[in-house]
Amino acid sequence: MSDVTRQLEQDHREIMGHLDAIRAANYKREVAVQELRLAKGKILRHHAEEARAVYAPMLQDRACAAMATEFQALMQAISVDILAFFERYDLKAEATLGIEFAMDLSSLTQRLRTRIRQEEEQLYPLYRQELARTTVR
Ligand SMILES: [Fe+2]
Repeated sequence: MSDVTRQLEQDHREIMGHLDAIRAANYKREVAVQELRLAKGKILRHHAEEARAVYAPMLQDRACAAMATEFQALMQAISVDILAFFERYDLKAEATLGIEFAMDLSSLTQRLRTRIRQEEEQLYPLYRQELARTTVR
């Protein structure tokens, strides 16, 4: 049985890897431009896939709908902030990468890390449980 949540967990690792690479490169501009571009694309594709493959079926299931609704509402709030971050640091527009960028990136990374932990510890296990149950029927 192929499990979409395994791929989504791999996405999480890759997204965090792009963000961590910026700090690891000491916020070097060309690294930041490249890694933010990759992170943004991956996050947008990840959210679309999560909505299609995880939220849509969970929202249809009585045992999962409440958690899915709650997670999706929280994710939408975080998504707004993520997009605002990418808008603010549209590096083609010559944004400066000072201490403020470092702090904003750190705050975004921390929120994403927390969010990812919640998904992997609560949402995906419930999805897998639901998927298995549905498959048995
Ligand atoms: Fe996710």
